[in-house]
Amino acid sequence: MSEDNKKIPAWKADFPIKKREAAYVSRKEFIKLITFFSGTLALANVAIPVFNHFKKEEKLGEYFVGLTTDLNVGGMRTFYINEDHRNPYMLIRLAEDKWKVFEQKCTHLSCSVLYNHDEKVIECPCHHGFFNPDDGSVIQGPPPRPLPQLTVVIKEDKIFVTDFIKEAKETNGHG
Ligand code: FES
Repeated sequence: MSEDNKKIPAWKADFPIKKREAAYVSRKEFIKLITFFSGTLALANVAIPVFNHFKKEEKLGEYFVGLTTDLNVGGMRTFYINEDHRNPYMLIRLAEDKWKVFEQKCTHLSCSVLYNHDEKVIECPCHHGFFNPDDGSVIQGPPPRPLPQLTVVIKEDKIFVTDFIKEAKETNGHG
């Protein structure tokens, strides 16, 4: 053993990494970690809308919503499909035989929208976004897209919803 080695404490001899080198390695690891998380977030940003898009394309079958006698003209009620409380829907009775169902989440920042029968609009109280209750299209305000709409089917006095309608397509509320 040389004279120099004798002066180095045993613990240092066991881990012969200089402090500067150790800091360099951890900074490099940190950058790798940040890059990994940034990449994961970027992927999620793309994957989640794609996943939701395909999810909405799925056929729901016929989901029973309620009876026509449950709601007067101008009335609105919210409901969930298959107990999925993340996605509230709104059933609106626009006229005696005109029913509409939309997602109740605003397409801007997901606030709950409400039907205003006096003004004949669906409004978002958060940033004054307004939608057309006939087709869910944006009338005014910051929402970037129409409200997703479902097909309504009436059988005798029972109301069902089926699949999603393509954005802002005109319907008569009977599928
Ligand atoms: S969340 Fe509806 S307009 Fe902003």
